[in-house]
Amino acid sequence: MASTTRTTSAPRKDEETTPRPATVVARDEEHQAQRTWRRRDLLDVDVLSADEIEIVMETADAMQEILSRQIPKAPTLRGRTVATIFYEASTRTRASFEWAVKALSGDVVNLAPSTSSVTKGESLIDTVRTLQSMGAGSIVLRHPESGAAAVAARHANVPVINAGDGRHAHPTQALLDLYTMRAHWRGDERDPIRGRKVAVVGDVLHSRVARSNAWALTAMGADVVFCGPPTLTPDEITEGFRHAGRTVTVVNDVDMALDGADAVIALRLQSERQIQGLLPSLRSYVRGYQIDAERLGRAKSDVLLMHPGPINEGVEVTPEVAAGPRSVVQEQVQHGIAVRMAVLYLTMTGQSEVGPAA
Ligand code: CP
Repeated sequence: MASTTRTTSAPRKDEETTPRPATVVARDEEHQAQRTWRRRDLLDVDVLSADEIEIVMETADAMQEILSRQIPKAPTLRGRTVATIFYEASTRTRASFEWAVKALSGDVVNLAPSTSSVTKGESLIDTVRTLQSMGAGSIVLRHPESGAAAVAARHANVPVINAGDGRHAHPTQALLDLYTMRAHWRGDERDPIRGRKVAVVGDVLHSRVARSNAWALTAMGADVVFCGPPTLTPDEITEGFRHAGRTVTVVNDVDMALDGADAVIALRLQSERQIQGLLPSLRSYVRGYQIDAERLGRAKSDVLLMHPGPINEGVEVTPEVAAGPRSVVQEQVQHGIAVRMAVLYLTMTGQSEVGPAA
């Protein structure tokens, strides 16, 4: 595990002269420890506490500030190289990780398995070890098999960041979605996500985004509703949450799911993952679950319409809604860079506060 350091602010005058009771010191140290990043890898958000998620959010705020500068760069990862390995197609995740590394002055090596020795039978573990031996300081991995990132992490001695594994998890997507909600809801409230209703609509069965979002949102106190046809929302999708003491509700009526929602996350219908036998027809899905203006009207008037992308145009949401005033899809894309910068920073430097050098 990477070593953990943190910057501290100078003590106030009264703190220098007045000794604090031991119980207060112990409580403060425990609180600070909870707010310190200690993880080498990011494989899912299910293990993250609310404090850890808040560290990512606050670090992403600092990264947003860097990105708003005239020269949007910081020297943090100078001399370090991040290897990205994408066994599945990607536009947003791969490009934003590359952008994030470059904004932190690091170097990137992108490995495309289709043109690598993977085609000659090289295993995932061999690929990871090879890139590590060449000097990769971190591995960003997307893979069609659930659990692939955990396997890579077990055999790596550098941070592994899961960029999406099968149906299992897509932690940076969930964190950027949360960051987008927080950007809209953060007013004077200390706890902007708590008590918010978030409807996640569509192909929940195949969606790593739905799972990671539900872990992140419930950790922060939101009410999560999964909605889709019964074949794409079987009972077992909520079992893991129930065992962990988290509440995720499933409804099959889209109007009920959207009623009073603060945010709606429309999911991509994953045609590459054998949904054909699970739906009578695409037309029936559109009739029953497509988010159109009338359906969105059941949600709060300031609802956030979200989609992780890529959108199947005219299927999950109507073009008018996708490009309409409630859509924050492009903000999600923009926030992906800052959130991935934050994740790289935390996992590769072990620091949980962005100092002036950043
Ligand atoms: N949301 C997402 O993972 O998109 P990409 O597949 O384009 O990376």
